[in-house]
Amino acid sequence: MSLKSPNLRFAIFASGRGSNALALMDAFKSGFIPAELALIVANIADAPIIQKAQERGYKVAVITHKGLAREQHEQLVLAKLTEANIDYILLAGYMRILSPHFLEQFKGTVINIHPSLLPDFPGLHGAERQWQAGRKVAGATVHQVGSGVDTGPILLQGSIEVRGDEGADGLAQRILHEVEHVIYPRAVRLFIDRLIEQKN
Ligand code: GRF
Repeated sequence: MSLKSPNLRFAIFASGRGSNALALMDAFKSGFIPAELALIVANIADAPIIQKAQERGYKVAVITHKGLAREQHEQLVLAKLTEANIDYILLAGYMRILSPHFLEQFKGTVINIHPSLLPDFPGLHGAERQWQAGRKVAGATVHQVGSGVDTGPILLQGSIEVRGDEGADGLAQRILHEVEHVIYPRAVRLFIDRLIEQKN
């Protein structure tokens, strides 16, 4: 089951520090995710993830969106994905909305992580907003990307109990490290297992 399939070629899209991207890279490297991580796409020129990915030997396409219309930027991204034969995309802190046209080209094959238990708290600062709302249990969600912001079929969720004294930042950090970095690789593996099952 965990034989690497050459037909499963993934790209990670990231815009910033890329801690989820790094957790995914580790999972590809160890074989936990039995597929090929063929490309990292970054849309911010000085995003810390660029150097970190390059240090790990990954091919990185830096395609900045500054001064470009969404369609123009996406055309450049699509060209790179085609060149690298990418079938699946993992959004890891990618701070751009993908257009319906883009998603049409990658139907059902774009996955995202969001720091809340969707459908609650879509949009920015999902982790902190769980604290502010006084939730006793908080978490994160990995889902296939649908047409709205943070919508689409859920692949996996993970949760932790909120500590009374940790504050919004403390909770956000724990969600990132204790939930997101754990469930994202697991969700991708689950996704691949399902693909393989469907093919057999
Ligand atoms: C994460 O909380 C992720 O869920 C959200 O953006 C943040 C990115 O953090 N979509 P990082 O760049 O992966 O460290």
